[in-house]
Amino acid sequence: MPSSFDEFPELDRQQFIRHNPAFQEKIFGRSGLLPFWVADTDFKVMPELIKALTERAELGLFGYETPTAALREAIAHWHRSRYGSEVVGKELLFTPSVNTSIAIIISELSKAGEGVIVQPPVYSAFMSTIKKLGRQVVYNPLIATEHGYRMDFDDLEKQAARPENKIMILCSPHNPTGRVWRPEELQQVCDICARHDVLLISDEIHLDIVYPPHQFTATLGIYAPLGENVVMVSSAGKSFGIPGLVSSYLFTPSRSIRTTVQKFIQRYHLDKSNAFSNTAIATVYRQGSEWLNSMIAYLQGNINFVDDFLHSELPAVRFRPPEGTYQLWLDMRSLGLDNQQLSTFLAEDAGLALNPGYSYGPGGDGFARMNIASPRNLIRQGMEQLAAAVKRRSGNV
Ligand SMILES: Cc1ncc(COP(=O)(O)O)c(C=O)c1O
Repeated sequence: MPSSFDEFPELDRQQFIRHNPAFQEKIFGRSGLLPFWVADTDFKVMPELIKALTERAELGLFGYETPTAALREAIAHWHRSRYGSEVVGKELLFTPSVNTSIAIIISELSKAGEGVIVQPPVYSAFMSTIKKLGRQVVYNPLIATEHGYRMDFDDLEKQAARPENKIMILCSPHNPTGRVWRPEELQQVCDICARHDVLLISDEIHLDIVYPPHQFTATLGIYAPLGENVVMVSSAGKSFGIPGLVSSYLFTPSRSIRTTVQKFIQRYHLDKSNAFSNTAIATVYRQGSEWLNSMIAYLQGNINFVDDFLHSELPAVRFRPPEGTYQLWLDMRSLGLDNQQLSTFLAEDAGLALNPGYSYGPGGDGFARMNIASPRNLIRQGMEQLAAAVKRRSGNV
């Protein structure tokens, strides 16, 4: 039976970054590509959200807003009821985006030249944010094994022990590899950071997109017995298709970190709320559980489709089904292309906008990231274009 996630109505999508021709031209050298790059969804949001935002608009009042107790409690309720994690509603801080939160924490809680640990291949904005703030990117690369990616704890211990390395950004679940960290893996990360007094930023923006039987574990719950040097940053943007409403939240049990971040937020007047995002967050976190489950089931169907397609039509491209996130980390190394050639091949020959693997740091060469949060027909078309391009290429060499 067709699902609402299959719908892709004809409309002008130029305002969306991933469909915007100028953006595609700038990043990929041409436009009109099937856009599987920026990590947002093509799906229409849940009907209850459209209703709530329509009612909010019809209220006709758009004075300055502040996060209400009800909004704070909705966020705390979501984390408690879905993940058993204790987020204290009244202590939540709000910023326009998760990247903003990460930048504030790095800028206020480390000094120029100090190191921030990341685990590549990982979300590229971590590296660019660290560099733009004049800090050093410190790599603790993931290890690729036959059974998927795992962390290198010996190396992490060494990096964390260096006095100049003050912060670690954990990506949980991990973008782009799709790993959902197990409690024992998180325990080791937390132990190492606590042992060396490294502030742990746990970026949990992908927390809700996890495929059974895997389960998301909140870092906060693991860290709590060890101390307070931890900040969880997240938002409802990825899970409910609302990054365009531009709002995120962060929680830390540390009063002193909270005060430091709060002062920054006030200094730069970032503490104004958006009327629509306030309504949206409260709505999705109170009413969105079932809708989210159905989106996860649809995404799982897309993953299965790609898995079957690659096995039968395109074995040269390999991937391991992700445990979480709507990103596929496609291994294209067997095509024998260098980074530049691979980017050109994907855009020019296959007509696809995929994120090049090398942008995710060490371990990314020869890979590409594909966002599968689109109707299955588009995913099918993308796979067919890729298979045809690979066939043409092998016919030519
Ligand atoms: C791990 C991770 N963190 C942060 C972001 C960006 O979030 P925001 O738009 O709230 O800055 C993304 C977006 O893809 C992401 O994958």
